[in-house]
Amino acid sequence: MKKRSGKAAGVTARTRVRRDGVGKPKSVAAQPNAIFLVGFMGAGKTSVGRALAGRLNWRFEDLDDRIENRENRSVAAIFRDSGEAGFRRAEHAALEHLLRELSATSGRVVALGGGAFVQKQNASLLQGAGVATVFLDAPVDELWQRCCKQSTAAGIERPLLRSQQQFRKLYNARRKGYSKAVTRVSTSERSVDAVAAEIAQVFGLTEIVTRTEEGEVE
Ligand code: S3P
Repeated sequence: MKKRSGKAAGVTARTRVRRDGVGKPKSVAAQPNAIFLVGFMGAGKTSVGRALAGRLNWRFEDLDDRIENRENRSVAAIFRDSGEAGFRRAEHAALEHLLRELSATSGRVVALGGGAFVQKQNASLLQGAGVATVFLDAPVDELWQRCCKQSTAAGIERPLLRSQQQFRKLYNARRKGYSKAVTRVSTSERSVDAVAAEIAQVFGLTEIVTRTEEGEVE
C-alpha cells in the first residue's frame, strides 16, 4: 500500500480566517472548511496536503487511503482484481462517504487520486458540496520524473504508471478536466511549503506556523 498517512510533525498551528476577503477566489464559499487537492500523478497532492493541513491545523486525508481501508486491499490490488472500473466505483463510494463526514466546525485537507476529479460524477459531487478544489499543476516531464523517483525511492506502486508515452497521453487527456478546479497552483520546481502557503493565502486562510522543514515537491 502507498505510504501516505501521517501529519507533519512539530506543528502547533491554529487557523485564523481572514475576514476581509482579500485573495479569495470568486466562486468559492467564503471560509471553506475543506480543500481538495486535485491533479495528475506526481503533482504533490499528498505532500502539499500534509503541509497545508499542518499549517492550518486541519485534518489531512488521502482518498486512496480511505479506499484501501474500505476495501481492505491496496490500490494496486483493486486494479489487478477488479480492473480500473472496479477502482473507480470504490473511489466514488469513498468520496461520497468522505463528503458526508465533513463538518462545518473542523477543517479538512483532502488529496484525491490523480483520476478522481476527472470522473464527471466525482466533480459534480464536489461542486455540489461547495468545497474548494485546487489543481496542482506541473509540466508533464517533471511529473514523470517525480513518479519514477518515487517508485524507486519510496516503492510507491502506481498501476497507471506505464510508459512515458502513455503517461503523457493520459495527462493531455485529463488536463482540461483538472482546470475545472476552483483555482490552479503551480508546483513546478517549488517547495512543498511554498505551495501550501500559496493555497492558504488564496483562500484567505492565515495561520500561526511553528513547523518542521518540508522538502521539494516530489
Ligand atoms: C490514479 C492515481 C493514483 C491512484 C490510482 C489511480 C490515476 O493516485 O488513485 O492509482 O488514475 O491517476 P496518485 O495521483 O496519488 O498517484
